[in-house]
Amino acid sequence: MLNEQYRSYLRWVVYQVYPRSFMDSNGDGIGDLNGITQKLDYLKDLGVNALWICPCYQSPNDDNGYDISDYENIMTEFGTMADMERLIAEMHRRDMKLIMDLVPNHTSTAHRWFQESRKGKDNPYSDYYYWFDEKPNDWQSVFRGSAWEFDPVRGQYYLHSFAVSQADLNWDNPAVVKEMQHVVDFWTGKGVDGFRIDVIDMISKDIAKGKNAFGPRLHEFIRALFGRENTRCLFTVGECWVGEIDEMIRHCAAERHELSTLFQFDHMEVGRTGGKFIPKKDSLKSLRDILIRWQQLTAEHDLLYTLFSENHDQPPMISRIADDRELRYESATCLAAMLYLLKGIPFIYQGQEIGAASARYGSIDQFDDVETINAYRDFRRTMPEEEALERINFGSRDNARHPMAWDGGEKGGFTTGSPWLALHSRYREINVQDDMNAEKSVGRFYRALLRLRAAHEAFLDGAFRVISSPEDPFFIYTREGKDETWAVVCNFESEQEIRLPFACEAPALASLNRGTMEGTYAPYECAAARVR
Ligand code: GLC
Ligand code: CA
Repeated sequence: MLNEQYRSYLRWVVYQVYPRSFMDSNGDGIGDLNGITQKLDYLKDLGVNALWICPCYQSPNDDNGYDISDYENIMTEFGTMADMERLIAEMHRRDMKLIMDLVPNHTSTAHRWFQESRKGKDNPYSDYYYWFDEKPNDWQSVFRGSAWEFDPVRGQYYLHSFAVSQADLNWDNPAVVKEMQHVVDFWTGKGVDGFRIDVIDMISKDIAKGKNAFGPRLHEFIRALFGRENTRCLFTVGECWVGEIDEMIRHCAAERHELSTLFQFDHMEVGRTGGKFIPKKDSLKSLRDILIRWQQLTAEHDLLYTLFSENHDQPPMISRIADDRELRYESATCLAAMLYLLKGIPFIYQGQEIGAASARYGSIDQFDDVETINAYRDFRRTMPEEEALERINFGSRDNARHPMAWDGGEKGGFTTGSPWLALHSRYREINVQDDMNAEKSVGRFYRALLRLRAAHEAFLDGAFRVISSPEDPFFIYTREGKDETWAVVCNFESEQEIRLPFACEAPALASLNRGTMEGTYAPYECAAARVR
């Protein structure tokens, strides 16, 4: 059984905010903290009670805030520390939790530590980063090209696992551990309730052995951050690329005092192949099978699971494995019922609650993301422009980063100025206002789903059981609580006659009008009801 603290986390419904693109309060075209504060009532009404806010610290924005130049100050474009304190206060007043994004693996090369470090070997910050006279290996950066960059100031190479301006910190230096503890304590002191930790698996490395992640001291470092007396009360979710349940146990078993949970990414690979940019024909069925596997594994080992299908690094799921055109409403609601009535902590990415789909642009100038631009440059070496654009339109992280569309007006309700990144190519069709007024509203479905989930213990702690069989072109599961059992039916892309091995009440949640749980289901139709 999950312990008390972990069980309480099952009540969290997290909404991920990409601050640059959420809401601009002062007309400079860039989303900001006051914009988030303005929208707290919208989020509360949606049924959300926690926010994960992507990095909002000082940064030159080469990787939109994941290149931090000062961990203890707010990005000028996003506002001030006073704005942050007001946001925290306004959230807590509404009983909402705040999860900050912690980026401990690397800093911007504009960070003071790096600026000092590059000055030379006798500088106190000399060993804050990895420096070598010669490239010690041929590691490639996640964003393409060598992971080693020659710094003419110091006359040595430094490691950057991501962009050239994101230098990896050397955690084997105890001073770095202390600095990062200070960052955690600083924000805990401001009242934040938890952290999402960026590529946490990479903070311990063994360069001599060619290991750039999951190094020998990883667990020691995680405990140095979160296993301390004053940090054990924090909720922590690692971006931690574990493949097997044993690894998840090693990071998340409650008694280890490391991470509360992590994002498990197996299902993020559905609908694509060979990296991020090549589509593969796929369906909700693949997603279902992976979800089932992790539901069962995490239940068996008393681990908390995170329920998510997108984030700021991923194009919307419905555009990959469902129908984001004619059946966009059905696809978005079916995905929500498949995911968020399972056992775990829901993470909803901004825009997902209105059925956001991937965008399409006709030129590389309309993209911003460093990963996309590097990939495009690579593709162009071997393929015509059209084909390269096809790939990035499919896989670009910008698909998740366009300004949130609040209405279908000229600026999408996001800003009064000119938005830092093009409005979504479909924003006149897909926006909050039109969705709320539509006969089929993804947003209203999300509200109903989250209310149902919160009202019934079975959806929180209840056991998960699969009712459909692997060949079925649909997904039926139950959640069995102490006093009641609920059934969820999610049909996939073709119309189906569905029978159940038990009797149910009338659906309490349904994407289309239906009076009973059994019978004909339209493509992507879904429903949930109490079992009699
Ligand atoms: C993580 C973030 C991603 C960022 C990278 C480097 O994967 O989610 O957005 O670019 O780390 O910090
Ligand atoms: Ca602004």
